[in-house]
Amino acid sequence: MTHAERIIILDFGSQYTQIIARKVREAGVYAEIHPYSISRAALEELAPKGIILSGGPSSVYAEAAPIPSFDVFTMGVPVLGICYGLQLIAHQLGGAVDKAARREFGRAIVNIDDTSDLFRGMSATTEVWMSHGDHVTQIPQGFERIGHSENADICAIRNVERRIWGIQFHPEVHHSVDGKALLSNFVIGICGCAPTWNASSFIESAIAEIKQTVGNGGVICALSGGVDSTVAAVLLHRAIGDQLHCIHIDSGLMRKGESANIIEMFNTHFSMSVDMVDGSDLFLTRLDGVEDPERKRKIIGAAFIDLFDVEAKKFSDAKFLAQGTLYPDVIESVSTKGPSATIKTHHNVGGLPEKMNLSLIEPFRELFKDEVRAVGRELGIPEWFIERHPFPGPGLAIRIPGAITREKLDILRAADEIYLEEIRKAGLYTQIWQAFAVLLPVRTVGVMGDERTYEHVCGLRAVTSTDGMTADWFHMPYDVLARMSNRIINEVRGINRVVYDISSKPPATIEWE
Ligand code: XMP
Repeated sequence: MTHAERIIILDFGSQYTQIIARKVREAGVYAEIHPYSISRAALEELAPKGIILSGGPSSVYAEAAPIPSFDVFTMGVPVLGICYGLQLIAHQLGGAVDKAARREFGRAIVNIDDTSDLFRGMSATTEVWMSHGDHVTQIPQGFERIGHSENADICAIRNVERRIWGIQFHPEVHHSVDGKALLSNFVIGICGCAPTWNASSFIESAIAEIKQTVGNGGVICALSGGVDSTVAAVLLHRAIGDQLHCIHIDSGLMRKGESANIIEMFNTHFSMSVDMVDGSDLFLTRLDGVEDPERKRKIIGAAFIDLFDVEAKKFSDAKFLAQGTLYPDVIESVSTKGPSATIKTHHNVGGLPEKMNLSLIEPFRELFKDEVRAVGRELGIPEWFIERHPFPGPGLAIRIPGAITREKLDILRAADEIYLEEIRKAGLYTQIWQAFAVLLPVRTVGVMGDERTYEHVCGLRAVTSTDGMTADWFHMPYDVLARMSNRIINEVRGINRVVYDISSKPPATIEWE
């Protein structure tokens, strides 16, 4: 998409780089992340209004220290260095950087020496988040100090003439109390950007761009029931109306009533029709007796493509396939070096565009998940839908370890429904990143009334996370657990024992398969 104004963040490998971009965008200015190794020509082509140098784990003195191949301080736009970025400024422009006597992690108080630009509107001290080993011991010539702390004499510097600012702490981290204001001071006050980036401006320009790309060709959209594909479909429908063809495949591995809910929401809220395909026979036949989780995933992926292919061919005008790809999948990140090692394959529609000879259309390639949610709200998608937890492409198949049967699926659906209902009733749904029930392939002995039972164990999982990469188990209140267990054992035929999963990721994963 073309952007009138943008800030470029050069990534030196900090775990917080993506948060810098999100915080700048929250200030209303579009920001993009690029590796520090970008060429001068490529950076010039992007025409940034300002440049932010991220933090990073290296020392500027390390042999393989990440250092740009050209002088980023002569691009003619303001530069803000954060942590490693500050050290780079000092190192490259004639100051000095040293190993700190003690490394500094966590909260610190910065005393502000000047409030005319970067610290505008702040009081004499501000609480910040520090995370560094090296620190600046000598200010480069032409620079002045604008902040210090008890631990570090030089916390913030600037050179107004050359328009370069550097700070030791991390304004992007939530614990830096005035961090958002600082970033806003930089991008709006110093770089002169207008705060016009928001969900509705995104929608407006996305619609124009979609119209232009698509012309009068048809676009096919696979609706999984997840937030990304749903918001994409509604946006595309706004842009091109009936040229959009939505297909939903019910794999028979969805939660209770899920497919019906999706169709109903599209019909009633958006007057959009969705082609619904009942694929459960095909999926369950191909999965019959299959125990290995990776084989399950491959079979499901292939069955999905086969069915989708047949369905999509019915639309003779189709030229594009819409996908809800998000920005974190696109960023060439220095710290993660592209897609991380495959622990579990997540290919839901992978391979589809090539097979069907369609071009991809990815309206959210530039957005973070929370921005997609904001776009969804702006488009009028109801809140209960926007806030939904992620749900894996292979669905309940990976929540029944071992072979899958219709009977087990029905048992799991019933337990999962109760579990989520109780979470919602307790007002906990939005505090949890993902919650689901698992049907374990073991039976245990129980007693109900006067009868001995020999039935399944149901595992309950709830985790907190920000991106699914790491997760902690959710501390579910005991009384809520008690209600869940009681209801599941009493109401679901086939389960006589309930356990709660208290493993974090790593070393466990979120799903059980
Ligand atoms: P794990 O289990 O790897 O899950 O910790 C991380 C996140 O990814 C989801 N997940 C999948 N999503 N296809 C998907 O679309 C898959 O095969 C798949 N496996 C796991 C999981 O639900 C969690 O949100």
